[in-house]
Amino acid sequence: MTTTAESPDLAPNPYLVGNYAPVHDERDDADLEVTGAIPPELDGMLIRNGPNPIVVPDPAAYHWFLGDAMLHAVELRDGRARYRNRFVRTPTAAAELGEPAPGASADVNGLVTKASTALVHHAGKTLALYEVSLPTEVRTDLSTVGAHDFDGRLTTPFTAHPKLDPITGEMVFFGYDVFGPPFLRYHVVGPSGELVKTEAITLPAAVMMHDFAITSTRAVFMDLPVLFDLALVGVQPFAFAWRPENGARVGVMPRSGGDADVVWCEIEPCFVYHPLNAYDDADGNVVLDVCRYPDMCKVEDVGPAASVPPRLERWVIDPKRTRVSVEVLDETGQELPRIDERQTGRVHRYGYTMEISATWAIGNGLRKHDLVSGQVERHDAGPSRAAGEALFVPASPDAGEDEGWVLSVVYDAATDSSDLIIVDATDFTADPVATVHLRRRVPFGFHGIWVPGASLG
Ligand SMILES: [Fe+2]
Repeated sequence: MTTTAESPDLAPNPYLVGNYAPVHDERDDADLEVTGAIPPELDGMLIRNGPNPIVVPDPAAYHWFLGDAMLHAVELRDGRARYRNRFVRTPTAAAELGEPAPGASADVNGLVTKASTALVHHAGKTLALYEVSLPTEVRTDLSTVGAHDFDGRLTTPFTAHPKLDPITGEMVFFGYDVFGPPFLRYHVVGPSGELVKTEAITLPAAVMMHDFAITSTRAVFMDLPVLFDLALVGVQPFAFAWRPENGARVGVMPRSGGDADVVWCEIEPCFVYHPLNAYDDADGNVVLDVCRYPDMCKVEDVGPAASVPPRLERWVIDPKRTRVSVEVLDETGQELPRIDERQTGRVHRYGYTMEISATWAIGNGLRKHDLVSGQVERHDAGPSRAAGEALFVPASPDAGEDEGWVLSVVYDAATDSSDLIIVDATDFTADPVATVHLRRRVPFGFHGIWVPGASLG
């Protein structure tokens, strides 16, 4: 078996070269060099996830969404920083690495276990997430426990984007299934980690549903026309295609409800990977902020590609009249939106995004939105630099919204190196309060989490 560490020619694929190229060594770097001062309140770990393929039989046919998972952690404590990276040992990755698989030695419930998109920490467990897959539990030392199926109760796919309710302690999620109806299921995990509710939801077709939203009372599903096409399996790297004739709808359902309670509202065909957040307004509407593309997967490609960059929009969904009004909040291309997650499902004033092109070329700017005043602030990470997902960490559990720091891993093409920048969210345009200089580049990835108090051990 030839791994990407040994393969000489990954050049045909843009997602295998530059800072998309995988790294191969698993490192532990202590006492990282810091410019500025890490706030002492930052006590815990940033863990980021992204694709890092071990084996690529045909580089031209590799899609960025399909790589093996690598976790990169930066522990911050007492003003000091440590780094560690590890592959997630899914059964496939363990076999490719020539190791026994931790946990179940084969994929569980017939689902191919992948883990390269995101993470969630709930009920004492840290889960590495993909979609159309079970989660993979990992420890905070980044070692792999194995596939997590909630004591056998979850037999169908889990999303990359569950939502944690900051008041009830529940984890609310969905899973989509491309191989047959029901194409969508909705689930609730209680505060102690038990899967307590599963509901099948009717969708007319198998669509790519990357994310969803919750309010304090409702779940919001996006049935958008990027369709799975079995005929494309083995023909192109990613078997999804833009099919606007399928129409586009958002569905609003009480969190305690089921299929019969979903109110579907037609919208213009479009695509959304990520909402920023949603909440109930006083008129019974759902306010949903999203990064919206006019299309996606229109042509065969090896990564996300739309005709124009995604812009930030506010959708006000009126379930009584089944109408959705759209307001453009910011035309600039931006993605991977994050809020202060203590506001999940509640009114959020602030949002943080990273600048991005139609084909996800990552820019050097982070954006902070004040959705009350309409003000947009920009943090410029500097020339030759690309700033990844802007993750907000509150200064303390009872700090106000926006009182804290925005963490972003920045790649500098001029030096082929990566830094973790820590920006004071309330002084967003200023230089970072601290820049942690990592001793190796971190390939572009997707999503991260902050785990308060956690340690690499
Ligand atoms: Fe995502």
